[in-house]
Amino acid sequence: MENFPVIDMEMLNGEERSAAMNMIKDACENWGFFEIKNHGISHELMDKVERLTKEHYAKFMEQRFKEMVASKGLDATQSEIDDLDWESTFFLRHLPTSNISEIPDLEHDYRLAMKEFAERLEKLAEELLDLLCENLGLEKGYLKKAFYGSKGPTFGTKVSNYPPCPKPELIKGLRAHTDAGGLILLFQDDKVSGLQLLKDGRWIDVPPMRHSIVINLGDQLEVITNGKYKSVMHRVIAQTDGNRMSLASFYNPGSDAVIYPAPALIEEENQNPIYPKFVFEDYMKLYAGLKFQAKEPRFEAMKAMPLPMAMDTTPLQGPVATA
Ligand SMILES: [Fe+2]
Repeated sequence: MENFPVIDMEMLNGEERSAAMNMIKDACENWGFFEIKNHGISHELMDKVERLTKEHYAKFMEQRFKEMVASKGLDATQSEIDDLDWESTFFLRHLPTSNISEIPDLEHDYRLAMKEFAERLEKLAEELLDLLCENLGLEKGYLKKAFYGSKGPTFGTKVSNYPPCPKPELIKGLRAHTDAGGLILLFQDDKVSGLQLLKDGRWIDVPPMRHSIVINLGDQLEVITNGKYKSVMHRVIAQTDGNRMSLASFYNPGSDAVIYPAPALIEEENQNPIYPKFVFEDYMKLYAGLKFQAKEPRFEAMKAMPLPMAMDTTPLQGPVATA
């Protein structure tokens, strides 16, 4: 079996740069996922974020999760549960405006650490998007611009804990899905595994690795690359032992950004755009109800959705194929 792609970002600064760029290209084309180390975010900051996230869970979230499990009888279930996940979560929005000060139960040092972590991740996401541009032959800044809309990208962090689960065969930590957005940066527990991606019809573990960040591509990058890169199904298997921490940060288009296959890629490959053109917010509204289903019907539904008049006047790159 091929190994899960792990890329040492330091290679980008030396004579191994082209080898590293090729590894990223291969990961984007064939995995939709890769793991990066030496990414420039300090280990001290990551350790602090991990410690504070675990303390926050123990202090404010654990009891609430146990009560939810008890009230729904989840720990005693004898049949498969397919309408909810064995996870405890909350969401922090960083861009276009931060809501960190409004989230209850966050202690001051946790707020500060998450703010600093988000700033570092935002820069890393933009660096990575430019590496993708370089590999795709798109001009520097193209993807950042494509995501920009009128107010800049949407950027947020889903803070999750997956507590030990007595029935992992009957309830998933997180049911299989592709991510709707752009680029996802995941700081996952380095001891408690559980994340798997679907490759060639088989579920493959994403290996925990201390101080690494897992990157995956969302549906919008599939659309913009006209399918050259694909968003990939993934899920979390709950574990019977240990509490899994997962901080997934989503660098997504702005709500009014218009998403469509990059004309430069279409021309270069002499293709037709096989993906639709749409406003990102419309895609998210659709996704909200269809997250745990295949992505293809979502793309089809967007093809059928009219663009707002003001946006429909810009010439689309050739006829939209029905493939
Ligand atoms: Fe996801």
